[in-house]
Amino acid sequence: MPEATPRRTHTCGELRGEHIGREVVLLGWIDSVRDHGGLLFADVRDRYGITQAVFNPESAAQAWGVAKTLRPEYVIAVRGEVVPRGGGNVNRDLQTGTIEIRASAVEVLNTSEPLPFPLADDSTTAEEVRLRYRYLDLRRPRLQRILETRHRVLIAVRRYLDAQRFLEIETPILNRSTPEGSREYLVPSRVNPGRFYSLPQSPQIFKQLLMVAGYDRYFQVAKCFRDEDLRADRQPEFTQIDIEISFPDPELLYGLIEGMMEEIFRAAGLSIAGPYPRLAYREAMSRFGSDKPDTRFGLELVDLTRALAASPLRVFSDVSQKGGSIKGLVVPGGGAWSRQRIDNTVDAAKALGSKGLIWIKSAGGGVQSSVLKHLTEEGCRAALKEAGAGPDDLLLIVADRFKTACTILGGLRLQIGRAERLIDEGKFHLLWIDQFPLFEHSDEEGRLVSCHHPFTAPRPEDLPLLDERPEEVRALAYDLVLNGNEVGGGSIRIHRSDLQARVFRSLGISAEEAEAKFGFLLSALRMGAPPHGGIALGVDRLVAILTGSASIRDVIAFPKTASAVDLMTGAPAAVTERQLKDLSIRVEPPPDKPSAPDR
Ligand code: AMO
Repeated sequence: MPEATPRRTHTCGELRGEHIGREVVLLGWIDSVRDHGGLLFADVRDRYGITQAVFNPESAAQAWGVAKTLRPEYVIAVRGEVVPRGGGNVNRDLQTGTIEIRASAVEVLNTSEPLPFPLADDSTTAEEVRLRYRYLDLRRPRLQRILETRHRVLIAVRRYLDAQRFLEIETPILNRSTPEGSREYLVPSRVNPGRFYSLPQSPQIFKQLLMVAGYDRYFQVAKCFRDEDLRADRQPEFTQIDIEISFPDPELLYGLIEGMMEEIFRAAGLSIAGPYPRLAYREAMSRFGSDKPDTRFGLELVDLTRALAASPLRVFSDVSQKGGSIKGLVVPGGGAWSRQRIDNTVDAAKALGSKGLIWIKSAGGGVQSSVLKHLTEEGCRAALKEAGAGPDDLLLIVADRFKTACTILGGLRLQIGRAERLIDEGKFHLLWIDQFPLFEHSDEEGRLVSCHHPFTAPRPEDLPLLDERPEEVRALAYDLVLNGNEVGGGSIRIHRSDLQARVFRSLGISAEEAEAKFGFLLSALRMGAPPHGGIALGVDRLVAILTGSASIRDVIAFPKTASAVDLMTGAPAAVTERQLKDLSIRVEPPPDKPSAPDR
């Protein structure tokens, strides 16, 4: 029978001067070995740190023999005495750097093949390779620290919410598909051939039903699934801190979340205090060109609609007649920009969806502009003055629908802010965005869609507009924004079935369809549903920002790539004919592609 693993007495991050003279056993991985002829040094690593063990052929012949075979990433048990390091050998970079283990015995618990990439935090190995061997990538101290922070954040959240009388309640993963569900993952049911479950995009309806059931304060650390185009801040499966309360008002929710954020920051070794500034959606768009503005720097947009509406430039008069906006962005010092840089900025605006970008700057005694001929020198000067641009500045202008013009300049604002290093990366700016529109027009679907979701309550004062001018109705919805990222979103819900039915109607969902798909919700709202509301925070985004990670992939133990693939396991993969037959499913290869082979 193999011997049991030796019991460790300490972790590799624990030993200090006070342990000198103790006999210890450490278990861990060989981080590095250095053979100095007469002596051999091995750094032993676990998730708590690194401790140096030293082997001497004279004092421990058996240990020396084994030590000669040690290679990086071997798993070992080492026994020995804690001794001080000689003066010149103290390593100030290691927390255990004043001591070392004088090894008396060592056992190899497992060997390791040479690794496909070095584990050093500063290694430049391509992410693709690291994801294929994620279990090795996860050995890197940086990732271990991040996952520990994630754990601490979730523990702090659970403690905080428990103290606030919240109950953590699990909701189902196998659900019914909803009409807004174009981005759902579907799961076939074997026992109900031809029928599908859908994976939850969020536990939204269930948490509302828990309020109807009287649970008063619910939360869940919930896995959510969305089949959407991925970016650095989006994964197909991600985690929310999902919250719902009965008898809410926005103030109560803001206070609760601000208290929770304080705990979250503390758990990550940082600090933040509420209350956070609040900005109405329209103002955020108008000033920052974004509904998730990064307010760590200025560079605010200016409105030139009134000043330029009557100008001889056709695009300005056309846009303002159609109710659009003329928005400007003043780039301080941009007057010195080369023609190339300006052209690049015009291209950047186009990449952001703009039809064009007008620019004006002072030059010598005159002005230069992309529209000098049409706007005239006098018009250009008036525009610069109206925008508050100084003699060294560059004025960028977009005229379009309000949201389009703001969004394009908002995109440029961010690019310029980053390029000019205007953003203090050490700062954390949290703010609430509220007064979102209830609906927006979807060009793709040719109808109104919910800005948040169809269960969001309209602001009571806007209710009279619901049937005639639904696009003007504002919602009782709010987003939490951190450093230009949407880290949370929520709303006060509709708790009366008649209003819910009206909102479904505005969304083009017929009474029959609403009954068929949401009959259970409408009926629940008719049976004593209390006023309720809530919010969900994106755990991955939050932890990524708190740990200074560029991508949420860094804060998820086993993430997917931007094309929703798990490079380690090969998911998603083809399945056998037999499995498909059991599920009554036949797969037709897409017309231009043969079906993917099994990996
Ligand atoms: P919402 O859709 O705004 O609201 O989602 C809440 C928060 O979840 C995070 N998030 C994501 N994180 C990573 N990858 C994704 N694909 C992704 N999608 C969203 C964001 C976002 O702010 N049921 C409502 C909440 C409510 O009304 O209470 C909801 O899911 O940080």
